[in-house]
Amino acid sequence: MSSRTKSIGILTAGGDCPGLNAAIRGVAKAAMHYGMSVVGVQDGFRGLVENRTIHLDGQSVSGLLTQGGTLLGTSRDKPHKMRMGSEVMDMTEVAIANMKKMNIDCLVCIGGNGTQKNAHRLRQATDIGVLTLPKTIDNDVGSTDITFGFDSAMCIATEAIDRLHTTATSHHRVIVCEIMGHDAGWLALGSGIAGGADVILIPEVPYDLEVVADHLRERRKHGKRFSIIAVAEGVRSILEVEAGEAEIAMLKAGEKKKKRKKSSPGLHVSEDGIPLVQEAVASRIARRLQTLTGVEARVTSLGHVQRGGQPSAADRLLATRLGTKAGELLADGVYDVMVAVQGTEILPVQLSEVAGVKKVVPPDHPWISTARLVETSLGDRR
Ligand code: F6P
Repeated sequence: MSSRTKSIGILTAGGDCPGLNAAIRGVAKAAMHYGMSVVGVQDGFRGLVENRTIHLDGQSVSGLLTQGGTLLGTSRDKPHKMRMGSEVMDMTEVAIANMKKMNIDCLVCIGGNGTQKNAHRLRQATDIGVLTLPKTIDNDVGSTDITFGFDSAMCIATEAIDRLHTTATSHHRVIVCEIMGHDAGWLALGSGIAGGADVILIPEVPYDLEVVADHLRERRKHGKRFSIIAVAEGVRSILEVEAGEAEIAMLKAGEKKKKRKKSSPGLHVSEDGIPLVQEAVASRIARRLQTLTGVEARVTSLGHVQRGGQPSAADRLLATRLGTKAGELLADGVYDVMVAVQGTEILPVQLSEVAGVKKVVPPDHPWISTARLVETSLGDRR
């Protein structure tokens, strides 16, 4: 069959995750199978703007399947708002000019939520096609059942919780384990259930520390002298949520917002202007729980360990299925879609439907009731 697409570019954008290399390999091998030429763009949209590319052939994508990270490099840069020296500029036109120089029919963008949005935005400014693949350890991309990277991260976080169990049991401690996920709690919830955490706190379910403390006391009454608490990094207490809502109501009522010192998210600025890393949410929770229960509490923050290393078998399989399906769609001349998994099917969904849609854990999701039925507290009053 002759391919409708002759030449493609591939880039990876946003935070890295296990399975990116498997996806690059899947797209490139399938594209080459249909006779397309393949260019790799380095470091996401920044490499596109700076015209940094590498030629991909059978040899360069061979052996990639099992490797973590991304052969192409990645960045969180957006074409329409890119830091260039001391300025932030709209570099969309430069990106498009470089796509033309590359002589590609379609740009394959492998990324999470931000990448879906950026790819869609870029497509609206050019007649060159765009096709995306969903990846992220957060699993928060809409219109797909799962993103690759999630399973590997869930295995890593679960193993960490397993290991924390033995040390927490030995010392009769509470251990608070901080897991990635600012807006979506899929990773904390999934690994928390799989690792048997006693409390799981996620952004979608605001918590009350008194409820958590009661749960820990109750466990102790039943002879369980240790507890593991899995906390997503973006959790909020009921009080914080209420304060946020009150502020929104005030703003709606026309009251002026108090001027706050501008700083990067997650950072405070010291008196001499040096950015300080804000106390991690897990530390705050551990400190307060220790005061409330009198039980020694410790903190483990898994951080980027969750994104590193080899992809799980499930992620290798998913990334390869998504990547090769992308190759088939490109051969058929199908652009402006994200390749998704829905049930047992791998299928294209319109990029316009995905861009800007964040998939968070719905309150009635079966994982929530599963956790509650094994006596895991979600920190809310029930
Ligand atoms: O890519 C998703 C993610 O890992 C989030 O879970 C996390 O909050 C964020 O990226 C961390 O970003 P960075 O690596 O840029 O610090």
